[in-house]
Amino acid sequence: MSAPGGLALTSEPAVNPLRDESLTLKATDPCCIVVFGATGDLTHRKLIPALFRLSKQKLLHPRTAIVGFARRQLDSDAFREEMRRTVPGSDGASPEWERFAGSLFYQPGVFEDPEAFRALGRVLTGLDEKRGIPGNRLFYLATPPSEYAALLANIGAAGLARRASRSDASAPWSRVIIEKPFGHDLKSARKLNALVHSVFHESQVYRIDHYLGKETVQNILVFRLSNGIFEPLWNNRYVEQVQISVAESVGVETRAAYFDSGGISRDIFQNHMMQLLTLTIVARDIVRAQYVAGAVGGTPVPGYREEPGVDPRSQTETYLAARIDVDNWRWSGVPFYLRTGKRLPKRATEIAIVFRNPPYELFRSAGCDALQANVLRLRIQPDEGISLSFGSKSPGQALHIDPVQMDFYYLTSFGQDPPDAYERLLLDCNLGDSTLFARRDEVELAWEFVDGILNAWRSDNRPPLLTYPAGTWGPPEADELLQRNHHHWYPL
Ligand code: BG6
Repeated sequence: MSAPGGLALTSEPAVNPLRDESLTLKATDPCCIVVFGATGDLTHRKLIPALFRLSKQKLLHPRTAIVGFARRQLDSDAFREEMRRTVPGSDGASPEWERFAGSLFYQPGVFEDPEAFRALGRVLTGLDEKRGIPGNRLFYLATPPSEYAALLANIGAAGLARRASRSDASAPWSRVIIEKPFGHDLKSARKLNALVHSVFHESQVYRIDHYLGKETVQNILVFRLSNGIFEPLWNNRYVEQVQISVAESVGVETRAAYFDSGGISRDIFQNHMMQLLTLTIVARDIVRAQYVAGAVGGTPVPGYREEPGVDPRSQTETYLAARIDVDNWRWSGVPFYLRTGKRLPKRATEIAIVFRNPPYELFRSAGCDALQANVLRLRIQPDEGISLSFGSKSPGQALHIDPVQMDFYYLTSFGQDPPDAYERLLLDCNLGDSTLFARRDEVELAWEFVDGILNAWRSDNRPPLLTYPAGTWGPPEADELLQRNHHHWYPL
């Protein structure tokens, strides 16, 4: 498959040398993975598909057991059948699926019932004996956050959170993965951290933000720090502005109960966007808005307040754009523009680094138009890759400078799309590697920043909640935010 337009750096599909995982991966430990919230959306859409792909690639230890735990009364066979239906196409009938399904089990239980956790403990011990698992446990909290307190308390009370001694690598381990949003604001995040620490030691805690598991996000560091031509440019001397966009064409889908109480500021801005930024920051100007009825890709869609389950007077924002200043030597004076929204025209996550023009535009005197800035675009998704635009003389007798593009596509260069973020993160947790997970202080710092914004929105002189028709790029005020500096959003 060829790259859609542009000049590919490598046009022939190459064999990706890094795909021989045995070269880079340690052996995973056999363990019992317990998924709390096993009948929910996240388990269906992300966790089981990711675990199945890991099993197909033989990256999960063959003796691993995956135990679904949820309120619904199901037996393991019914659970396997329900999970099989989440797997795309013919894969659900393959021998690989049959092998994987043999490692799936189900235990019904109410999260508030301590006895259900003692029963779970007995099931896990039975699986240890049957499958030769040395007592390792990985707990995944894939429930709504309102359930975390009961879950953590009961995991602790049933003695399931035992901590391996750090000096004895062969002792069984117990780890917990906690989904975002981690708290609702700084105060609740601190309270949750205290509760987590009453049961688990920080070294056992894996706070997940799946953006960190994305191959393209990990590549930002590699790209910047291992290429001699880019690293020296990564500062305010050469960079004029940075734009970070997380655009989604979907609306609130079936998640109104969760989304309406938090808005996009808690759903995406506090976590995924902060991970893409992660610097010392000061918020300057913020635009918040909610979508009204419109059309996405030619299909009419309702406004946010008409979505099932949403309060018809809801003041929850579904769009946020901000100018952020980074308060340090390297980035002083460079505006960072962030935007994220539901029901925008397309799904695209991208970081655009816009470079300063040369101080003297030599060819202007020869009648050329003003130079267009060099823009380095890190495409997180879709069409994962990187492109760099630069000016080139267009062929002909007259002197014209036109922007052209150099493109790198993962698919063309590595012969395949990057793996799903959840695969990587589940694997890392099994291996005890918490590099791509958020530590306590990081989560609290991100909330401290976002709390400042949320408090301003609660004050008497809060900015108005603007609207934008579904299928557009947000309210005009988001464009004006950049126009004040003679900047504009780069099209996604
Ligand atoms: C989730 C948010 O964390 O991330 C969703 O709760 C959002 O609202 C999703 O749609 C986006 O993830 P991705 O990987 O599709 O960009």
